Amino acid sequence: MTMRRPLIAGNWKMHKTPQETEGFIRGFLPRVKGVDSVDVLIIPPYTSLDRAGRLIEGTSLLLGAQDLCSEPEGAFTGAISAKMLVACGCSHVLVGHSERRELFGDDDQIVSRKLKAALDAGLMPILCVGETLSEHDRVEEKVTGQLRDDLAGIDKEGLEKVTIAYEPIWAIGTGKTATPEVAQETIGMIRSWIAQHYDDAAARGMRILYGGSVKPANAASLLAQRDIDGALVGGASLDDEKFAAIVDAAL
Ligand code: 13P
Repeated sequence: MTMRRPLIAGNWKMHKTPQETEGFIRGFLPRVKGVDSVDVLIIPPYTSLDRAGRLIEGTSLLLGAQDLCSEPEGAFTGAISAKMLVACGCSHVLVGHSERRELFGDDDQIVSRKLKAALDAGLMPILCVGETLSEHDRVEEKVTGQLRDDLAGIDKEGLEKVTIAYEPIWAIGTGKTATPEVAQETIGMIRSWIAQHYDDAAARGMRILYGGSVKPANAASLLAQRDIDGALVGGASLDDEKFAAIVDAAL
């Protein structure tokens, strides 16, 4: 029996102004009022975080950021530190999203440093891993390589604060979802890797999410898999009704 609490997270990517963020939150909060068995997290762009943080205060809705700088402070023009995110009300931060890796050059060394910067500031990182279509036939090698390099130097205590999101790159924004069985197979493999490299308790406690074209229509079948503890939702998290329907699928 596992007692892992589901987490439904909405990564808005580069969408919504602060005003649009406010509109979403005002529409969304009544839809998830009374949800107490699922953690619900929104991940707006940086410029919306402060306003979102004020609007969700006193509610159970959680706030996260899409990325952070690996350095705590200093001459890093354009970068945002972990401490700044905490001050806006963030509890979580994505680290190593495939779009950061592919479009902005975040390699495993950078991802590992960002993970440590998040933990040092008391943020809970969501480490994203996953393979491209051409890597799909060696998914285990790709994903375990990312886990090895990204989690290097993270002890068991640090690991307890980490959530892993498996996002096959070929399923992101494409409308192609991994079948529940395919997603379960890789996520089960990730949990076994954690058991081997940490221990069984760490593996049992680790929340592992699936991401890649999660929609209201496919959420329940993905979430029904034994090792899938939640979803990291892109496009469908931009609409308060659709995102609430995905939360409902986790209840
Ligand atoms: P989509 O749900 O739009 O495929 O995006 C998935 C994702 O990348 C979430 O981080």
